Amino acid sequence: MDLKGKKIVLGLSGGVACYKAAELCRALVKEGAQVQVVMTEAATHFIGTVTMQALSGRTVYLDQWDGRIPNNMAHIDLTRNADAILVAPCSADFLFKLAHGATDDLLSTLCLARPHGVPLLAAPAMNVEMWEKPPTQRNVAQLKEDGVRILGPAAGSQACGETGMGRMLEPEQLLEEVIAAFQPKVLAGKRVLITAGPTYEAIDPVRGITNLSSGKMGYAIARAAREAGAEVTLVSGPTALDVPHGVRRVDVQSARQMLDAVMDRVEGQHVFVGVAAVADWRVDNVSPHKIKKDAGGHAPELTFAQNPDILASVAATTSINGWPYCVGFAAESENLIEYGAVKREKKGIPLLVGNIGPQTFGQDENAIVLFDDSGHTALPQASKLSLARQLVSEIAKRLEKRSLLA
Ligand code: C5P
Repeated sequence: MDLKGKKIVLGLSGGVACYKAAELCRALVKEGAQVQVVMTEAATHFIGTVTMQALSGRTVYLDQWDGRIPNNMAHIDLTRNADAILVAPCSADFLFKLAHGATDDLLSTLCLARPHGVPLLAAPAMNVEMWEKPPTQRNVAQLKEDGVRILGPAAGSQACGETGMGRMLEPEQLLEEVIAAFQPKVLAGKRVLITAGPTYEAIDPVRGITNLSSGKMGYAIARAAREAGAEVTLVSGPTALDVPHGVRRVDVQSARQMLDAVMDRVEGQHVFVGVAAVADWRVDNVSPHKIKKDAGGHAPELTFAQNPDILASVAATTSINGWPYCVGFAAESENLIEYGAVKREKKGIPLLVGNIGPQTFGQDENAIVLFDDSGHTALPQASKLSLARQLVSEIAKRLEKRSLLA
């Protein structure tokens, strides 16, 4: 539970996206947060206080003059212990209020009254025309300058029947953003390129060879790096996973496509993490047509060619200016400690992450060992996301050490 014990004020302003706020409230509670809902009067036209109260398990407040707060200082009482404030949905009007320091209702007053250091996050939701107009854009720019985190909006079809920017992010994405707000920004300003998932090597137009990699570890590292403040590009083989919010995904199938996608983007990257289970071999005699089962009565003869080593290719480019810092993965079924150290040397990389494979493929947990020039360190069994966060922190430490040495 990534939000265990965190006190979140969830503010709702008026907009049809209030229906998503119900789901969001539930998701926050499920993740361990104590959610205090505060609504504007306009929000109550879109969703009932009863719904939000039932989902949060706490009294919902609307009014600055609510007699249920003994000292009549709701704006102070509700924010002094808060760990974060999230306004979702944040209407065009409420963006204006936040940008101008308005205090004409409880929600705007408590946003202004929040103590220094309590992050304010706002998830805009409005019609595309309202979003694109200069006054709204000016308010958004001002809020960003003031340190308010603007989450979204997304583009797509809108409740009003129009299409464009202005949809509120989905509850799952907002949950990821709230969780990210509590992660240390150890990779702020850094660019990270990651490969993940399996590759797929065609035999003919409908058949191919792949492996059991689920992509979960690579996707978890992408999410953890983004949470740590990095700009993340994920080059992914075929997987069934959702891309973490805020991560740019490039879809590929074969090892050669993966190599091209990586080499096209490697310049300017600070970190490269090769997590993909890249096929060592590809079919050399790919048939342009579907191979007939009954052709001649015998099985087709496949010949194979060796695939390029993507990690080694990236590592070779680092000799030019030292970047990116390269991290490799190795799944070994035995002698992990011995093989891991040897593989790191062979690949010519500063950090290698070993795990006992292939039984971790597709699982939600893993245990890893980090190999670098000073030896090895074990990170015990944990969720892949937790290990990914630890790995990101280890990478950040090493980057810092490098920049101190440079
Ligand atoms: O040599 P081995 O396949 O065990 O190395 C695993 C590491 O190398 C992983 O980081 C994997 O992503 C990377 N790799 C690669 N291209 C290949 C094979 C492996 O980038 N063709």
